[in-house]
Amino acid sequence: MAKAQDLPIEALLREKRKFPPPREFARRAVVNKASVYTEAARNPVRFWEARARELHWFKPWRKALEWKPPYAKWFLGGKLNVSYNCLDRHVTTSRRTKAALIWEGEPGDTRTLTYWDLYREVQRFAAALKRHGIRKGDRVTIYMPMVPEVAIAMLACARIGAPHSVVFGGFSPESLRDRIHDADSRIVITADGGWRRGATVPLKQNTDDALKECPDVNTVIVLRRTGQPVDMQHGRDIWWDEFVKGVEAKCPAEPMDSEDLLYLLYTSGSTGKPKGIIHTTGGYLTGIAATHRWVFDLREEDVYWCTADVGWVTGHSYVVYGPLANGATTVMYEGTPDFPDKDRFWRIVEKHGVTICYTAPTAIRTFMKWGEAYPKRCDLSSLRLLGTVGEPINPEAWVWYWKVIGNGRCPVVDTWWQTETGQILITPLPGLTTLKPGSATRAFPGIDADVLDERGKPAASGYLVLRKPWPAMLRGIWGDPERFVQQYWSKFENIYFTGDGAKRDDDGYFWLLGRVDDVMNISGHRVSTMEVESALVDHKAVAEAAVIGRPHDIKGQAIAAFVTVKAGVDGTDGLQDELKQHVARKIGALARPDDIIFSAELPKTRSGKIMRRLLRDIAEGRTLGDTTTLADPAVVAALKRQYDED
Ligand code: WTA
Repeated sequence: MAKAQDLPIEALLREKRKFPPPREFARRAVVNKASVYTEAARNPVRFWEARARELHWFKPWRKALEWKPPYAKWFLGGKLNVSYNCLDRHVTTSRRTKAALIWEGEPGDTRTLTYWDLYREVQRFAAALKRHGIRKGDRVTIYMPMVPEVAIAMLACARIGAPHSVVFGGFSPESLRDRIHDADSRIVITADGGWRRGATVPLKQNTDDALKECPDVNTVIVLRRTGQPVDMQHGRDIWWDEFVKGVEAKCPAEPMDSEDLLYLLYTSGSTGKPKGIIHTTGGYLTGIAATHRWVFDLREEDVYWCTADVGWVTGHSYVVYGPLANGATTVMYEGTPDFPDKDRFWRIVEKHGVTICYTAPTAIRTFMKWGEAYPKRCDLSSLRLLGTVGEPINPEAWVWYWKVIGNGRCPVVDTWWQTETGQILITPLPGLTTLKPGSATRAFPGIDADVLDERGKPAASGYLVLRKPWPAMLRGIWGDPERFVQQYWSKFENIYFTGDGAKRDDDGYFWLLGRVDDVMNISGHRVSTMEVESALVDHKAVAEAAVIGRPHDIKGQAIAAFVTVKAGVDGTDGLQDELKQHVARKIGALARPDDIIFSAELPKTRSGKIMRRLLRDIAEGRTLGDTTTLADPAVVAALKRQYDED
């Protein structure tokens, strides 16, 4: 009989093959007893307490959970420090000389920091922050490339109790400005630039542009990375090297309350303004350390690589904090997967002997398109486990990943979670779960996930919800408690609503169906339709805009924007390009629309609401759904003609 990995991908898909854990993998796995699920379900709080005890606490908690819906507090009264857990407790063991961080810059430069190195560098930077007057509770904005110093900065903030707000380096000056304002940061840590596809991203220049409207920022620390020329504003800007000059690498970790703010991270919701998601200390660290160890079956000798940028939650939980809390070796790469060639990821796997690789479906689909020749050039035999996150993975991509990258040996863990959940919630446990390509399988032990219909009754297909609190869950939206309640807790009483649709199969496995609200998922990144619309109408030629996500082979979704121009303006190709540029400038390149469709009018209900559903039908080439509520049916017919012509 042919072995599974020898079959062509189509055959594997046709078979609807299930993938049980390889026997040897299961035997050695961190978790391989199915009883973990039943035990955790019987008493989830006790389960999480056991995980919390795996961390170092300066002072134990009095109470594990206080649940006053929608507000949860975990490990009340407990004191700990995230940086201490990631560093201090490892340097007293043989991990002192273990690689904590293996870093590779895009030009090919590499650095390895042992736990001891990182411990010292973090203390030095933390002490420098303190010397500069940064206090517990001060919010620090970090806008940096993927270099070791971004992890050092985050850990140093955590060490002194100054919450960070990391802003993805691909965001525009305006996006950065809005986040600085919302967090009310007085200090920004950045770099001259970062490398990306052979060119540099002007981070300092962007920061300068953002700060034109941030008079309260009085300190900018600038790391020298690319060496490109930058303006340094006297009295405000200081080079990283000078900032730490003469500072001793000693800074004791501040004992933080379990519920103290660890960080803010901005994400898109279904209204225009980004939300500052609040994550606190004890529960967050418990949730991510446990899931990182169990989901990735972490062993002492693993070389773990998560390809996400630290600007996203995946980078927070599973590049920096989760792996370091577990004393793992974490790999960090600065650049793009196609520089200098399309085999770069596989060169990194080969060069550093990566054993666990965690990436996004959009990347996998891109690799599929580039072809097998690139991974085939490299020795990928060190790999033993693969993971995905960020969007639903289509079964073809799953099987390709399993077969071509994992050579049919490595389980693939499809992990579902969100910025808000902080930690992975729906996922296989690779030593235990029989995998089905395209399904994130089951809730992690201790997690109570369900699918409900409109009336809140369990259903085979409907809304994905979480019934019980979990330790790393968001504690709120910065400065906007009403929106927190409105967004997550108003659809069903005392139940967290994820905004995702899902179905369950006969085995109870979850199949994620994407967002049900006005949030698009572009290459695994959340972008709200409203954000793009307001960027468009900000352009002087635009009267009105409606934005939708349409299916896209590689990116999952692409942005289609229907635009009505002002009287006297011509909808030319030139204007299309200009509008795309305009959105990229306002928000960042990730939000650049793929299609701009000019339209004399937009389809609206009689009450004036834009009917995005119809726009979706048009963009997806479907026959139009119900148009009876439309104010002027002729608009849609014209729009459809227009779209088909374009
Ligand atoms: C989607 C990223 C299907 C989902 C960690 C969710 C997924 C949003 C998966 C969160 C997955 C993430 N399968 N969909 N495995 N993982 N999503 O906040 O729509 O950037 O709500 O967090 O991504 O995106 P966020």
